[in-house]
Amino acid sequence: MEHLSRILYVSRTSQGVGEAELKQILEQSNRHNKEQRISGILCAGGGHFIQVLEGPQEAVFRLYGRILDDRRHYDSLLIGVAPIKQRMFQGWSMGYLSNPPEVMEARRKQLLAMWERRAEADELVVLMRKFLEQLRG
Ligand SMILES: Cc1cc2nc3c(=O)[nH]c(=O)nc-3n(C[C@H](O)[C@H](O)[C@H](O)COP(=O)(O)O)c2cc1C
Repeated sequence: MEHLSRILYVSRTSQGVGEAELKQILEQSNRHNKEQRISGILCAGGGHFIQVLEGPQEAVFRLYGRILDDRRHYDSLLIGVAPIKQRMFQGWSMGYLSNPPEVMEARRKQLLAMWERRAEADELVVLMRKFLEQLRG
């Protein structure tokens, strides 16, 4: 059985990255993602990126690693990783949504708040901490 995963991250657009660079990113994405059976959406505006990538786990992680090294953005924060049964963006090798700055600001804030709330409460984090405490003795 194939293991599908989804990741969601936010980042900031680097200085000087405009329409031309965005077009290039989308061209690269469409070419590469189709090959790797990755789907998703890239939202941009007001100096922010929000991206969802979904597909075979290995391909998603390999791509995310490459994207992290891309100088066209910085301050990337991984909001979530989840195993999934079904894609949400089936058929979109990389959808694109351009949003007004205030919409992007609000979405980013909302995602960061989710991340902060979950960071400590997540059951997995608690279990991992217990496990690590056991290891330390
Ligand atoms: C915000 C952002 C999102 C990106 N998303 C993708 C993507 O979904 N797929 C992809 O192949 N490259 C994406 N890239 C570009 C990669 O970092 C990398 O430059 C590209 O995959 C290299 O393609 P090439 O080997 O065809 O030149 C993204 C870059 C940025 C800055």
